[in-house]
Amino acid sequence: MYRSHSCGELRASHINTEVTLAGWVQKSRDKGFMIWVDLRDRYGITQLIFDEERTPKDIMEKAKELGREFVIQVKGQVIERESKNLNMATGHIEILVSDLTILNEALLPPFTVEDATDGGEDIRMKYRYLDIRRNPVKDSLLFRHRVAMEVRNYLSKEGFIEVETPYLIKSTPEGARDFVVPSRMNEGQFYALPQSPQTFKQLLMVGGMDKYFQIVKCFRDEDLRADRQPEFTQIDCEMAFVEQEDILSVFEGLTRFLLKEIKGVEVDTFPRMTYDEAMCRYGNDKPDIRFGMEFGELNAVAQHKDFNVFNQAELVVGIAVPGGNTFTRKEIDKLIDWVKRPQIGAKGMVYVRCNEDGTYKSSVDKFYGQDDLANWANATAAKAGDLILVLSGSTNETRAQLSALRMELAERLELRDPEVFAPLWVVDFPLLEWDEDTQRYHAMHHPFTSPKPEQLNELESNPGNIKANAYDLVLNGNEIGGGSIRIHDRDVQARMFDLLGFTPEEAKAQFGFLMDAFQYGAPPHGGIAFGFDRLVAILGGQETIRDFIAFPKNNSGRDVMIDAPAPIDEAQLQELNLKLDLKL
Ligand code: AMO
Repeated sequence: MYRSHSCGELRASHINTEVTLAGWVQKSRDKGFMIWVDLRDRYGITQLIFDEERTPKDIMEKAKELGREFVIQVKGQVIERESKNLNMATGHIEILVSDLTILNEALLPPFTVEDATDGGEDIRMKYRYLDIRRNPVKDSLLFRHRVAMEVRNYLSKEGFIEVETPYLIKSTPEGARDFVVPSRMNEGQFYALPQSPQTFKQLLMVGGMDKYFQIVKCFRDEDLRADRQPEFTQIDCEMAFVEQEDILSVFEGLTRFLLKEIKGVEVDTFPRMTYDEAMCRYGNDKPDIRFGMEFGELNAVAQHKDFNVFNQAELVVGIAVPGGNTFTRKEIDKLIDWVKRPQIGAKGMVYVRCNEDGTYKSSVDKFYGQDDLANWANATAAKAGDLILVLSGSTNETRAQLSALRMELAERLELRDPEVFAPLWVVDFPLLEWDEDTQRYHAMHHPFTSPKPEQLNELESNPGNIKANAYDLVLNGNEIGGGSIRIHDRDVQARMFDLLGFTPEEAKAQFGFLMDAFQYGAPPHGGIAFGFDRLVAILGGQETIRDFIAFPKNNSGRDVMIDAPAPIDEAQLQELNLKLDLKL
């Protein structure tokens, strides 16, 4: 038996018992006649004491050799601590050690294995196994496990069954590039790793499985951000014989349950907003509604004066920054620089100070009088003491810029309270989006999403106008899930592929299996997938998913610990019938 108890378990009630513990040396303090060692495992820390008078001499000698992160086993007696540490669960006791075995020595770790470490991101990722010993990372992984268990419990209770779908598949278009795997047995042919199990879950519905879920890895070769990894996990779900309303209600239930179980938060309402409304009010299809600063469109009150910049703009739009009139001129100039950075791309920004006495002072006083500015204040719901910031230009770009500014200001003004949870359904997404580069329509969600049935007749005549039975679940400004009601009719699916620029032959070659399945009695169906990493991170009060993934990749998609991706040797290439012609 390696251990009788864990390092987080012993209390005053254990005093005088003989125990065996095993773990890592967190730190050791050697006073010569007495040595204290903090012994750590997953469950906590227990203080060991080696004492010249009471500990055998050879054990005392051995204790002097202990270095950080040595793996040891000790036997000893639980005794009462003289100076108790009330901040520690085990702080009432210590172990008077009678026997010590060094199970494994350790090199000096390249960073301190403590809650606040001196290790930077790169080094921690290279030695991730040491990083995982630290409480913040360990706790994040335990937290992730807990959320996964709650999800499984809830969905199982609701009658969902978890079915595994294959990883070696053919491309499923979800808008990113595929990771591909060469096939040794089929020369010149490749599998693609799933961007999601989308087509398989639909086939499970044709197979009569009715309510499916899977906590599943997905793979997308796309540019990485704080909330994106090339391999990530979804809670993937699908149901048959449902309408959009059924899906929203079931997964509102799951989200409610998780917020209650995990965070103790009861959410009253799950507001809904159409995509168009979200874009208009927040400039964004995943608005953070925990705070105001809603967009006020100013075309009607700011155009047709002498200010040409606004006259020429498709959209003039502003937000009121609460209490922003306290910003100094220098601070405002910095904000203007901020929106002019290439990442944001605004050409300039107009501002209006809303003075306490009800007067206004703007950067465009030459063109606008007090009455005009009062109209702006009205449109942006600005109060005395606020600062109105106004951008203008083409609609989509200006909205994106102002949305970025709104989020940045909310961050700076600490309006994004991680303990407040504000879910939101964004519904009625457009079915298609126009891509300027390829001069073609793309499916906004994916090609299997059903148009609103009443708009089916516009599919060929006015495709850009069609809304989809597609929805996103947004939590605190993050898209944590997305789904849709699917097409289950072969002919509609064929028309959809046609619209997306597939020839009938291409559609058959890529998705013939699905079109075939639709001919054998496909039930109406729909579903959703949650971004599990994102959900866990947000429930954990953060937006960076890397911290909740045991072995994440860095921003260049590398695993710096195992050093992947890596070249493969010639023999392996030959076996796969691959020739590399690298132009290095
Ligand atoms: P979608 O593409 O919207 O839908 O993905 C669902 C959710 O997965 C999360 N997500 C990611 N998380 C981390 N890293 C990434 N690279 C990443 N990409 C997406 C997001 C997103 O909301 N098959 C459909 C679902 C359906 O229609 O049922 C799908 O995959 O939180």
